[in-house]
Amino acid sequence: MVPPGLVKGENHLMGDVLVTGGTGNLGRVVCDKLREAGHEVRVLSRRVRPGQSVRGDLRTGEGIPEAVAGADTIVHLATAPRGDVEACSRLIAAVLPRTPHLIFTSIVGVDRIPLAYYAAKTECERLITTSGLPYTIQRATQFHSLVMRFFHSQRRLPLVFAPGFDFQPVDVRDVADRLVAHVAAGPRERVPDIGGPEVRSARSLAQAYLEAARRRRRVVGLNLPGRVFSTFRGGAHLSPEHADGGVTFEDFLATRF
Ligand SMILES: NC(=O)c1ccc[n+]([C@@H]2O[C@H](COP(=O)([O-])OP(=O)(O)OC[C@H]3O[C@@H](n4cnc5c(N)ncnc54)[C@H](OP(=O)(O)O)[C@@H]3O)[C@@H](O)[C@H]2O)c1
Repeated sequence: MVPPGLVKGENHLMGDVLVTGGTGNLGRVVCDKLREAGHEVRVLSRRVRPGQSVRGDLRTGEGIPEAVAGADTIVHLATAPRGDVEACSRLIAAVLPRTPHLIFTSIVGVDRIPLAYYAAKTECERLITTSGLPYTIQRATQFHSLVMRFFHSQRRLPLVFAPGFDFQPVDVRDVADRLVAHVAAGPRERVPDIGGPEVRSARSLAQAYLEAARRRRRVVGLNLPGRVFSTFRGGAHLSPEHADGGVTFEDFLATRF
């Protein structure tokens, strides 16, 4: 739907939007919603899809100057298990000295949970806040799809392990709505987190998954020693004060099974 006050295809106020990671879980939904709102959208991908994407690789830098040229807003969602800091720094260098609005999606608790992937996200946040670019940083809790994948990956086991802490999974459609609003609103620096509607034990999420998948398995609690596990147990990845997502885990599962 085109937001009130805007005309499909005529929102010159908004200009061109480049979405890195626009082929990913969140990115696909963001691109659809941006187009529905009347934006001109280009998708950066390592593989070209005719008419929709520009080829570029943030790991090597190939195609990046061409991809960012003329973009008024860049929604940076590309991610990989390794190399996110180099990718972010390459993106910033390619953009400057122009100053488009850079929107970055980070994760709730990245600066409190000692995981290498999270340390890289924290460093990306720092690079962006010190880049001189106008920016918006949106942190989100874990996506429903990630939590589902964790349980689904155990489908060949006779039982399901569920870590002994809570999750607050959020739907990518809710996160995408927030990002589309940031595109229209312009740079806001670090904005309030977005979390899913419910903080729930991993055990209860595992049971919801099993029910949706029509599988009978015993759910077994998993507790591990170490700082990573204890920060998750302490809820560093949760944002109950921003339980703004509307789509529950069961709603999401209903679209998958
Ligand atoms: N998953 C979660 O639970 C969660 C929670 C909170 C925040 N986030 C954040 O939300 C963002 C999107 O996550 P997601 O789960 O939607 O990602 P995803 O599905 O894993 O997609 C990754 C995307 O990155 C692109 N990419 C990877 N390496 C690239 C490279 N070298 N050059 C250019 N593009 C590259 C891929 O595009 P091609 O393969 O087409 O090149 C793909 O579109 C990430 O910043 C993530 O940290 C995720």
